[in-house]
Amino acid sequence: MPGVKATALSAAILVSAARAEPLKVGGIDLDTPPSHCAPLRDAEVPKAATLGFVSGAMTASAVYWIHREQRRRRQPGKATHPREWAIWTRLDRKKKGYVTRKDLKSLCYRFESDEHAEHLAKQLDPWGMDHINFSSFINNFKVVQMMRQAGRLKLWHRCCGLGVAGNVAGHMAQAGEAGQESHSATKPAAIFSYYMPPHPYQVSDQQADKKRLQEFPVTYAVIDYPKLPGACKVQVEPELGLLVDIVYTKDRKRVDHLVPRRVAAFNDCSIRSLEGAEKLSMKKNWGFGSKGISLRSFPVDGFGPGTFVDFLALVSYMKRDGEVFQYSVKAPVRNYLLFHEPLLEWIVEQINGQKDTDKWEEIFPQLAASDFPTSSWIALGAGEYTDYGATHFLQPLDEVVVVVYDERVMPDGPGMAQVLEMFEDTPAPAGSVMLHQTFV
Ligand SMILES: *[C@@H]1O[C@H](CO)[C@@H](O)[C@H](O)[C@H]1NC(C)=O
Repeated sequence: MPGVKATALSAAILVSAARAEPLKVGGIDLDTPPSHCAPLRDAEVPKAATLGFVSGAMTASAVYWIHREQRRRRQPGKATHPREWAIWTRLDRKKKGYVTRKDLKSLCYRFESDEHAEHLAKQLDPWGMDHINFSSFINNFKVVQMMRQAGRLKLWHRCCGLGVAGNVAGHMAQAGEAGQESHSATKPAAIFSYYMPPHPYQVSDQQADKKRLQEFPVTYAVIDYPKLPGACKVQVEPELGLLVDIVYTKDRKRVDHLVPRRVAAFNDCSIRSLEGAEKLSMKKNWGFGSKGISLRSFPVDGFGPGTFVDFLALVSYMKRDGEVFQYSVKAPVRNYLLFHEPLLEWIVEQINGQKDTDKWEEIFPQLAASDFPTSSWIALGAGEYTDYGATHFLQPLDEVVVVVYDERVMPDGPGMAQVLEMFEDTPAPAGSVMLHQTFV
């Protein structure tokens, strides 16, 4: 029923609006709802319910139906609690309606945060019933979030986030970030940072007053729809994420080289249109839940031609109202405008020498202020959008899947049946890593 859908959606938005705490990031108030770019779908008039009342004979059944619908709607689920639901579905994979302590432990294990498992189990299951339902999960969600954030930050200790802008021919023009000169570009436009960890050994009250890029933005299950004023047109950027060790020169005046370690599926989610944004990084990090990375990643021991990375390809999908659409074209990462060691060398040059011009920023001073992070997850560049992806921006309750797959195992990429399973959070098939996120 159209009316039901619209109401459920506004309920979800009310819930998320109620939860939004007043935040101030980089001088922009985050608690003001977007003025003209409100992520609401057209409210539809509940015509069917009205019609039900026209005929006297149908009135009783219509009333009954509405009551039943109201009761069903009050049941907590994706519509009422999208954020909690996105994580619950990963726990309750068999859709039993409850989970056990063992399921919680396996969640912690997957998060490399075993030390939290016992506390989490005690909190969610104080009487030791070993039967945890979605309601108690919602009631204790703060603890779950804390565990997840602690697990992530452990993996991101002294690790910064960088991105390469314009590393797929044609993509920058599509994203509206291309300058005049980029049509015959042979190099990416520039690099940007989306996360710089706060200085780890400084104890001061200043810590409480985090700078814009010090907000840790990377999540797994959810993307927080931006609540910045004047922000609209949010797009997934399906990318190859590359974990590198950063090696500085002995005098720490510059970066000497990068050592590639792992690759993952990455969502460099971006706001295409943001009033007053002078720097690209403002459209990249809008606080918690503005980036995504797959939990699993492939190890790499080199970045040269003919090595493992040459067989990897990217693809992404979006699910809206139960329908799945391909969001970006299948793109072998070896087709990046710049790749292999020349890309790593170029990134090093940019880190050391990039100037504060136009929408770009100096990077090396940020690393120094961050006490020289020892590693970085670099978003290497996005795949090209399908016609659908280029014309459909994301809205709350949309879901996306970003897949990085080995073409030797999956010559044609994941089939539609496999993609549908990814949206159901079944583990990614052999030869692939996958990220599934819900917009809340
Ligand atoms: C969920 O579990 C809690 C605690 O065990 C219980 O009080 C509550 O009635 C359960 N809710 C449902 C809908 O089963």
